[in-house]
Amino acid sequence: TILIVDFGSQVTQLIARRVREAGVYSQIVPFTGAADALRNLRPKGVILSGSPASVPGEGSPRAPQELFDAGIPVLGICYGQQVMTQQLGGEVRSGRETGEGGEFGRAFLTVTQQCRLFDGLWQVGERHQVWMSHGDKVTRFASGFEIVAISDGAPFAVIADEERCFYGVQFHPEVVHTPDGGRLIANFVRHVCGCAGDWTMAEFRRTKIAEIRDQVGDAKVICGLSGGVDSAVAAVLIHEAIGDQLTCVFVDHGLLRSGEADQVVSLFRGHYNIPLVHRDASVLFMNGLKGVIDPEAKRKFIGKTFIDVFEDEAKRSGGADFLAQGTLYPDVIESVSLTGGTGVTIKSHHNVGGLPERMDMQLVEPLRELFKDEVRALGRELGLPEVFVGRHPFPGPGLAIRIPGEVTRERCDILRKADAIYLDEIRKAGLYDAIWQAFAVLLPVRTVGVMGDSRTYDNVCALRAVTSTDGMTADVYPFDSGFLTATATRIVNEVAGINRVVYDYTSKPPGTIEWE
Ligand code: XMP
Repeated sequence: TILIVDFGSQVTQLIARRVREAGVYSQIVPFTGAADALRNLRPKGVILSGSPASVPGEGSPRAPQELFDAGIPVLGICYGQQVMTQQLGGEVRSGRETGEGGEFGRAFLTVTQQCRLFDGLWQVGERHQVWMSHGDKVTRFASGFEIVAISDGAPFAVIADEERCFYGVQFHPEVVHTPDGGRLIANFVRHVCGCAGDWTMAEFRRTKIAEIRDQVGDAKVICGLSGGVDSAVAAVLIHEAIGDQLTCVFVDHGLLRSGEADQVVSLFRGHYNIPLVHRDASVLFMNGLKGVIDPEAKRKFIGKTFIDVFEDEAKRSGGADFLAQGTLYPDVIESVSLTGGTGVTIKSHHNVGGLPERMDMQLVEPLRELFKDEVRALGRELGLPEVFVGRHPFPGPGLAIRIPGEVTRERCDILRKADAIYLDEIRKAGLYDAIWQAFAVLLPVRTVGVMGDSRTYDNVCALRAVTSTDGMTADVYPFDSGFLTATATRIVNEVAGINRVVYDYTSKPPGTIEWE
């Protein structure tokens, strides 16, 4: 086990992810729980995360001193490097104090000395791209340390105490913009800490099943299925852990893609033989969405109504003590602030709001630390069919947030047809798996066209396709124009109500993936 000590960085989970990718099990604990975790877990190494705090700032968090006395390797990342330096007798100064701005974004460092962290990866004299994000910096390192790499803005870009196996990096090796970052972390956990690197999703499955049994005992659990991959994987995993103590409720809001509801029902009832309550609540949702234009109002209404219907079904089925959700890490980070107040709500994701408080139930969220592609890997591990697991992500509020303006049944039907054609073309071109998410959006704009000899005055449909690894950032998928022309032609010819098709060329940021 590797212990990851969290100082409140937004990307701490990415560290855990890189450690998992290196085939090593890790556990994240807040810095306040690190001393206990050190005693209980007996980790082979420690990674200290970054933080929005400033080491010289009053009341800023510290690592328990025992971590440095335990005789195990420590890797400090950004704030982790600075806090380690400060606690071991060096000096850190804030950017404000030195009058120098920090370094943010792409930077290049030069390797000045070999160390075990770089073994087999970086050589003296080489330059490597890294990702920086810091205002403060180390100005004097603690005794025992040496500089092993420098950058323009950080003379102590990487410091090492080879004897104690303590390493400090000013940059962020956990983000994808540090191309060798994953390999550096793998080097630390395997080469420096001596972890075997044989941990797999099968292991995760076993660990989680044991945890779920432990948490739930012989109590009853209820799980709301949205039609998407996440809640389905969570439900199948929990069912494997506790069998028929689990009740699944599929709240069908009528905002799913073409054929999706049937797929969920046959997967659960047919493939897994998991009892399922399927509630068609589309009338309720459509009625409530009348006249609702504001995106957040839509999200809130759908989230709340989902809860109402779910609660109703939960009561009917005799109630439960625990509520299971397929919450993933990106849902957590985009909806709430981990540090208590500094985060901003971009969108209210409907799968993390309100329900637990209202129903006074404890949560079972076995996927909370995973990213989408890891959930897919777990789904495969659990035997879910590839067509289901490999499906593009789909938002909880469904087609409603792909219909800017008022949502009506008729508009949903139009969009569903266009979306199905678009996805069909993508599959036929063999591009489905190369794309993170592709979908059509029905715009509240009508334009003039000519079909046959007649004038048309119909809706505009926008097509979106992005690549991403975690949904947190995304790039536009570069279709060739032949593909887009052919797809646009098919949509206009086959879908009554659409007479014009446009392609969305916005990355995230500044755009978001969904339009609302
Ligand atoms: P955005 O639009 O925020 O989307 O860039 C990032 C990813 O999250 C999905 N998404 C949601 N998923 N409930 C979900 O389960 C939601 O309310 C929700 N809103 C957005 C979106 O499809 C993309 O994959």
